[in-house]
This record gives sequence, C-alpha cells and structure tokens, in this order.
Amino acid sequence: MLFNSTDNYIASNSLKQAVNAAILLEKPLLIKGEPGTGKTMLAEELANSLDTTLIQWHIKSTTKAQQGLYEYDAVSRLRDSQLGDERVHDISNYIVKGKLWQAFTYGEQHNKRPVLLIDEIDKADIEFPNDLLLELDKMEFHVYETGERVVAKQRPIVIITSNNEKELPDAFLRRCFFHYIDFPSSEEMAQIIDVHHPHIKQDLVRQALEVFFNLREVNGIKKKPSTSELLDWLKLLMAEDIDAKTLHDKSQKGGLMPMFGALLKNEQDISLIEKLAFMSRR
Ligand SMILES: Nc1ncnc2c1ncn2[C@@H]1O[C@H](COP(=O)(O)OP(=O)(O)OP(=O)(O)O)[C@@H](O)[C@H]1O
Ligand SMILES: [Mg+2]
Repeated sequence: MLFNSTDNYIASNSLKQAVNAAILLEKPLLIKGEPGTGKTMLAEELANSLDTTLIQWHIKSTTKAQQGLYEYDAVSRLRDSQLGDERVHDISNYIVKGKLWQAFTYGEQHNKRPVLLIDEIDKADIEFPNDLLLELDKMEFHVYETGERVVAKQRPIVIITSNNEKELPDAFLRRCFFHYIDFPSSEEMAQIIDVHHPHIKQDLVRQALEVFFNLREVNGIKKKPSTSELLDWLKLLMAEDIDAKTLHDKSQKGGLMPMFGALLKNEQDISLIEKLAFMSRR
C-alpha cells in the first residue's frame, strides 16, 4: 500500500513520504497547511488510490468526542415504549454508531483498511483531542449501555486536518505523524492547474501565475489567495475568454485584475491593490 500523486491530485515528495510513514506506523497523520492547500482532498484521493472507503467526520465547534464513538437515542426509545413497540426491550436498538465505530469495524467486514478523515479538528473545543487519545491509540472503546467492546482488528488509516485555529495538546501530538503542506511553488502550481484544466492556454497560465504569486507577496494583504481560489479564477478567465495580456493591464477599472472577486476576499485587500495600481500608474 503506497500513496502517489493521482490523476486529480499532485502530492509533493515530502507529502507522499509522510502519508506512507503514517500508514506504515499505523498512526494518525496530522496535516496542517494554509486553507485550500488540499488537506481534505488528500484524504479523498488517498481512499481512491487505495481503492477503499473514505469515512468523513467533519468537526464543528459543537462536536463532542463521544459522538464519534456512539450516541444513545433516548428519544426514539421513549417513543417506542409509548407505542408499545417490542424493540424497546433491547437497548442496542438505540445505540447509533459514530464515525470511529464505523471505521474500526469496516476492516473486518470488508477485509481492507478504510481511510478515516477527522476534518478540521481545531474547530472543536479544547478537550476534544484529549478525549480521543485512548481511542485513537488503542483503536478500541467500550459501550457502557450494552457492555460491548468495539475493537479495530484492522486499524483504519486516519487523516486529521487542522487550520491551526487552536493548539493541539502535546499528548495528542505524540500519537500522530505530522506533516505541514508547504504552499506549492510556481512549478507545482502549474502541475496542479494542469490536472484541473488540461486544455488551458499556457500563456494564460504563465501570466496568471505571475499575477497570483505577486499578489501573495503584497505587503499587508490580509487574505492571501490560495490554490482553490487560483483554480476558480482561471476557470472564470477561460469561461470569459479573457486574453492573457490583459491580466497585467493596470489601466483597467480600479487597476484590478479581471474577475478579482475570485482572488480578493475583503474590501481592505481590494483597496490596497487599487492603491498600489494607482501608484504604479503614476
Ligand atoms: N495538490 C493538489 N492537487 C490538486 N488539486 C488541489 C491540490 N491542492 C488543492 N487543490 C484544489 O484546491 C481545492 C481545495 O482543496 P481542499 O478543500 O482539500 O483544501 P483544504 O486544505 O482542505 O482547505 P481548508 O483548510 O479550507 O479546508 C481542491 O478541491 C482542489 O481543487
Ligand atoms: Mg478542508
């Protein structure tokens, strides 16, 4: 089982090594990187390339660790008891399996390891990662209501992503293999563009990359545009059949690049770029 770039996803050598190391060590892979650098997509493509299932757990500020294991549906049980349903006598009918439970038992049923994505772990409260230490380490847990023990006979491949909104506890970090996705270089970005827009004109790509990387370098810019924003921008430029030459043309309205709304996401950045364009015209 080895991970490589796919038809849809360009992985750097260091990312490939990190994924393969985590698979080998059977430890969760913690992935950080700027928004839009392909963290979530990595898990999707990894599952595709290993021909296995992706089990996705998207974390929100209200998500609790217990929800990943299982939840007890007391409301349905109460309703069934009022209706005189026989099911009510077996509590296991009301245990709703969480994503970790599904991932832990998948291997045994399908005879291959699934990919479990715990996406944006930093969105949850500070206790969340600590509450999952044992489960991710031992890959087993106890169901108190039924006395059952859920054990992963084949450990899932676990990908955990974070946007760095909160620090993760040391005890949690110790249990993971870590990789930071560096922002792609211009050459890597050209490859990424190629997998998304194989028929794009090369001079448009060249000019767009120059504008894009210059924009990321502007001092004081609040929200640097990311990979996904560049891809959106190029899609619009192609749809509107915009000529590569006009991308640098500062005489356009406000001095902004065409379709700038795909790249610039707040008014401060827009006025900053307008000011710079105005100064360079003078
Ligand atoms: N290495 C790559 N190869 C191909 N496409 C990529 C790559 N990196 C990013 N993309 C493109 O960027 C989009 C955004 O990627 P993704 O949603 O995985 O980013 P993310 O890092 O999870 O962002 P966020 O932190 O905002 O969730 C993808 O849908 C894909 O189109
Ligand atoms: Mg993501």
